[in-house]
Amino acid sequence: MTPLWPARLHYLQRSSADPERLARWYGVLLGDAVEALPDGAWLVQGHERRLLVGRGAPGAVPEFALAVRDAAHLATLAAALDAAGVSRAPAGSPLLLDGAFAVTDPDGRRVLFGLPLRAHGGRAGLPGRLQHFVCASARVPEMLAFYRDKLGARESDRVLEGEELAAVFLRSDPEHHVFATFRAPESRPDHHAYETGGWMDIRDWGDRVASLRIPMWWGPGRHGPGNNLFFMVEDPEGYKVEFSAELEHLQEDAEFRTWPHEERTLNLWGSAWMRS
Ligand SMILES: [Fe+2]
Repeated sequence: MTPLWPARLHYLQRSSADPERLARWYGVLLGDAVEALPDGAWLVQGHERRLLVGRGAPGAVPEFALAVRDAAHLATLAAALDAAGVSRAPAGSPLLLDGAFAVTDPDGRRVLFGLPLRAHGGRAGLPGRLQHFVCASARVPEMLAFYRDKLGARESDRVLEGEELAAVFLRSDPEHHVFATFRAPESRPDHHAYETGGWMDIRDWGDRVASLRIPMWWGPGRHGPGNNLFFMVEDPEGYKVEFSAELEHLQEDAEFRTWPHEERTLNLWGSAWMRS
C-alpha cells in the first residue's frame, strides 16, 4: 500500500487583496460561518468543508492540506518522504494539529500533511464535502512525477494529446481524484470541488446559486474521468468552484486509463472548458 493511502483534502487556502470580502462571498455561497483568525486570515467553515483566505495575489491557492488517518500514518508517510528524498519542513496551521509538515510541488505550491483540527465543525448547510483541488500547470509531467512518484498518489486517469499529457487525475483514497492538473501555458490554480450526496443535491445547489443570482459558469454535465455530475460557478476573482456528485471510486491497485484530448472527455454531455 502506498504510504499516502488513505488521505483526504482537509482545506485549501485562497489568497486575495481583500481577504475579508472574498471570505464573505464564500460564506454567502456556501451558507457557512466566516471567522477572522488571529493571523489576519479568514476561515470559512461549514460541515465537512473549510477554506482559508489570506492576503496575497488574487486568485492564488498558495497551499492545500491533506489529512491522514492518525499519528502512526503521519509518521510512516514522513519516513517514506524522507527515504524518497523529498524535502519537508514543519508547518503550523490553524486547521492542523501540531506535528504537521509541508512539501513544495514543482509549481511552488505548498502541500501540507497532518491530522485535522475542526474536522466536523460549523453549521450544517447543504451537503458538500471539500473533496478535490485542481490546478493548471505549465509542467504537467513534472507534477505527475512529483505527486505520483514522490508523494505516492495513485494515477487514476490521464488525458493525452498525441504523446503529450494534457491532464492527469490522482487519488489518495478510493475517490477518483483528490488532485488533478491540466496542461496550460502558465501555472495557476483552477478550481476546487464539493462532493455532494447525489443529483438532488446538485439541484439544490443549483437553486441556491440561482437565488443568489450567481450564474452557472459551466454545466451541468458529467465528466469523463471520474464520471461525476457537476456544475461550476466563478468566484469574484475568476477562480472556479465546482459542485459534484457520483464521483467514481477505484481500488488502490487499479491501473490508470487514457482519454483523448477532446471536449467529450471533459463533459460527456456537451461542451467543455479546454485549458489548452
Ligand atoms: Fe473538478
